[in-house]
Amino acid sequence: MSIGIPILEIANVTKSFKGWRAVCGASFDVGRGSITALIGPNGAGKTTMFDMIAGFSRPDSGQIRLARHNITGLPPHRIARRGLVRSFQFPRVLAGMTVLENVLLAAPRQTGEHLLSMLARPRLARDREALAHIAAKEFLRLFGLNAWSDEFAGTLSGGQRRLLGMAQVLMTEPEIVLLDEPLTGIGPGLAADIFDIIASARQQSMTTFLFIEHNLDVVMRRADEIVVMVEGRVIGAGTPEAITSNSQVIDAYMGDMRKWDFQ
Ligand SMILES: Nc1ncnc2c1ncn2[C@@H]1O[C@H](COP(=O)(O)OP(=O)(O)OP(=O)(O)O)[C@@H](O)[C@H]1O
Ligand SMILES: [Mg+2]
Repeated sequence: MSIGIPILEIANVTKSFKGWRAVCGASFDVGRGSITALIGPNGAGKTTMFDMIAGFSRPDSGQIRLARHNITGLPPHRIARRGLVRSFQFPRVLAGMTVLENVLLAAPRQTGEHLLSMLARPRLARDREALAHIAAKEFLRLFGLNAWSDEFAGTLSGGQRRLLGMAQVLMTEPEIVLLDEPLTGIGPGLAADIFDIIASARQQSMTTFLFIEHNLDVVMRRADEIVVMVEGRVIGAGTPEAITSNSQVIDAYMGDMRKWDFQ
């Protein structure tokens, strides 16, 4: 399988909790600029894997590399500084600040070309503060939050907070974004929007997205690579087409998958 240049390389990673092996010898790569789904049944070890990648827990053994740097066991802030951002199911939103201010807070000190290309507005490069403002407004528009721009963030609904959290994540100009079940608690209309925004961020700036998702219909339509975990192991990886015809994956996880219509 070829996934181009890997931005993330997971090699033989193992993690146990009190003797229970949540992840056992898992290996996979994530291609730079890919939209990769990590799927598998409940308890397969997906979130545990995300925790280790983002530095929230330390693998017992194995290695994790980000852009060829060994990041195994580094603390989260050092991994974040290398451009890996994880979105939270319940993002930390400052309720007493406006929605716009919350997005601006996430802007890097040096708003750079990455963000410019993401928004395809290269001529605005000069004034960084103005640029951050424009970028924040643009993200709020993309996420359907512009009408709330000057409201206190505390007034947003749970679903809107999730969207604000996503806007904050993209505002940091990440190299790679980890999303754990990003559609939970978001209605179907907005769910489609989120993946449209992901697709355009990838296209404009080569941002990589690795997401955990149980909805196979979404996975098959939106991911260009899929990694399948079952009982702590990676049992298959490849394009949606390759995964749907992988007999090991079908046997272990997607038994009745052939009846799906993924067109
Ligand atoms: N902090 C912890 N302490 C003890 N056991 C844990 C801990 N975190 C996870 N586990 C166990 O490790 C296994 C893998 O859990 P994990 O949350 O990674 O699965 P998952 O693939 O994300 O599942 P789901 O799809 O339900 O979110 C499970 O058996 C879980 O109970
Ligand atoms: Mg999970």
